[in-house]
Amino acid sequence: MRSYVVLISIVAALGGLLFGFDTAVISGTLNFIQPYFGLSEAGLGWTVSSLLFGCIAGVFMAGKAGDHYGRKKVLMFAALLFFVSAVGSASAHSLVFFLVARVLGGLAVGVASILSPMYIAELAPAKYRGTLVSLNQLAIVVGILVAFFSNYILVGTGENNWRWMLLVMAAPAVLLFFSLFLVPESPRWLVARNRNKEALDVLIKTSGEEFAHAELKEINETLKNQEESTFSELFSPKIKPLLFIGIILAVFQQITGINTIMYYAPKIFANVGQSNDSALLQTILIGGTNLIFTLVAMVLIDRYGRRMLIIIGSAGMTLMLAGLSVLFFTNHTSSVLVLVFILGYIAFFAASLGPALWVVAAELFPNRLRSKGMSVAIVALWIACTIVTITFPIMLERLSGGITFLIFALICLANLLYVWRFVPETKGKTLEELEREFANVKM
Ligand code: BGC
Repeated sequence: MRSYVVLISIVAALGGLLFGFDTAVISGTLNFIQPYFGLSEAGLGWTVSSLLFGCIAGVFMAGKAGDHYGRKKVLMFAALLFFVSAVGSASAHSLVFFLVARVLGGLAVGVASILSPMYIAELAPAKYRGTLVSLNQLAIVVGILVAFFSNYILVGTGENNWRWMLLVMAAPAVLLFFSLFLVPESPRWLVARNRNKEALDVLIKTSGEEFAHAELKEINETLKNQEESTFSELFSPKIKPLLFIGIILAVFQQITGINTIMYYAPKIFANVGQSNDSALLQTILIGGTNLIFTLVAMVLIDRYGRRMLIIIGSAGMTLMLAGLSVLFFTNHTSSVLVLVFILGYIAFFAASLGPALWVVAAELFPNRLRSKGMSVAIVALWIACTIVTITFPIMLERLSGGITFLIFALICLANLLYVWRFVPETKGKTLEELEREFANVKM
């Protein structure tokens, strides 16, 4: 694999790192911002979810702006937003100011959540596309871990500790902004703007002289004589089935419950009677497992394909959650098996749905509709994420752990059956080959 492509992917994946960091950093600040801004429990809920509302708007914005201004420029804009959000939220003296800063951060997360994987997919050679796009998921996971660690380190810095926690994000934001100067624009976007010469230069560097000309020709064919796309085209008979697959997979990635663990692990552990002291250890175990099994996925995804990974991963997730549910039903929650099942669940997610969803979402749509199609699917993801985040504590309280985890286990099983029956394999083919294939297949 060419080091140039790896460099480009790493730069773009910094967007994923900021995505992970920004969504996770808030958890460590809660106990301090609540008294500072005088927030009720409900107020705290709104403050936390303000980011998620920003995300939804950001994804839509990126869908349109990514086509108009290019993937790279809009990612640069996101880097600026991340910076402003970090400095703004860290220096806030009023709640309104704080919320505005968090919403701006959310906009940036939304933009990065689609443009980083999409940009990598559009630059990567077909053979390594799965691995390279998964690098973005690795970065998300690293971002989450860095946030947990930096919060832990900064918690003892006095009454302004939460400000420092939030300010940390300014550093990777600056890094993303400047490193984007080192990478080229997506060749597929350049062709859409009739900038064939520049597209060819990029393709020569990413795929090599021998493939570049043929690839350029193929990209041109998929884009020829077409005006700028519209969102309504996503509902045309040929594209609608792809849109459904994207939306359903994105929603499944969230409703299989990953963020019940990522966001609420301490609450679950407290629920089963464990002390707060072990919080850091749990964070390391959860974050570390997530990281290691994302690496496993990166090795396997282009060899065995996206479908195989998701099918096996969903089966594993189903079993782990079913096990957890049984422990709750039989009142064996003090058992070390709780931790074993939770870590097993994370491992199966990280090796499958975690990265594979982002890979497939970036591959499904034809060149001219990729930005818009992916944005609709990922808006669905953020909405599902918001709903699960808000309802999980209520489910745990009203339905008990046994029923709650049983429901998530059944959803994982449904995901398995859905992917097995409806989701096509996308490994190893160029985006143009996939485009032709999907145009001819009745789904
Ligand atoms: C999901 C996030 C999740 C993260 C955990 C991502 O693929 O979209 O919602 O927090 O994985 O690793």
